[in-house]
Amino acid sequence: MKITLFMAMSLNGMIAGKDGNEDFLSETNWKSFGELAKQYGCFITGRKSYELVQKWPDYNYSTIDAKLKIIVSKNENLELEAPFVRANSPKDAIQKAIAENISSAILVGGSSNNSSFLAENLVDEVILNIEPAIIGKGISVFAEGEFERRLSFIEATRIADDILQVKYKVIK
Ligand SMILES: NC(=O)c1ccc[n+]([C@@H]2O[C@H](COP(=O)([O-])OP(=O)(O)OC[C@H]3O[C@@H](n4cnc5c(N)ncnc54)[C@H](OP(=O)(O)O)[C@@H]3O)[C@@H](O)[C@H]2O)c1
Repeated sequence: MKITLFMAMSLNGMIAGKDGNEDFLSETNWKSFGELAKQYGCFITGRKSYELVQKWPDYNYSTIDAKLKIIVSKNENLELEAPFVRANSPKDAIQKAIAENISSAILVGGSSNNSSFLAENLVDEVILNIEPAIIGKGISVFAEGEFERRLSFIEATRIADDILQVKYKVIK
């Protein structure tokens, strides 16, 4: 099972402002995510990101084309409709994808969920879209945790006038 973490962030590694707003991120990132989710067939996100993004009026996780949409949460009462399913841990998320014959998934936040996967060494690749912004207070791409990973560089692509996309492989 290949897990690719995809996130859009400020130059200093913030994925949202301090109140959770993503105003400094352009729609190009959402397009990148949509293309990857369709290509991989599955995405995985944390419960807080899910609840936040589902409130967006124009597009949200429901408008993304993917066979399986996994929400990581310990809350057994979380109500989800197919193709959304709940996983109670990162490993459970992977098992749920394998059960659907899915061999790769996009991990798309948030901060705490990213760290949960990284701490268990479940991330194979990292793709980051870097926006031209520096945010003093906010939510970091990885919440604090007990991990240290080394990466090898794959490529960097200018995907828009002012957005650089960098891709790394996690050394295991
Ligand atoms: N810029 C981007 O590309 C991007 C993408 C996505 C999200 N975001 C931002 O990320 C922010 C949210 O990040 P966040 O860190 O606050 O929340 P999050 O990671 O989205 O969700 C946290 C929740 O995920 C569940 N979870 C995480 N690790 C778990 C584990 N090991 N086992 C079981 N459940 C686990 C828990 O849900 P329960 O409490 O229900 O158990 C936890 O409370 C939002 O502001 C959003 O805007 C940005």
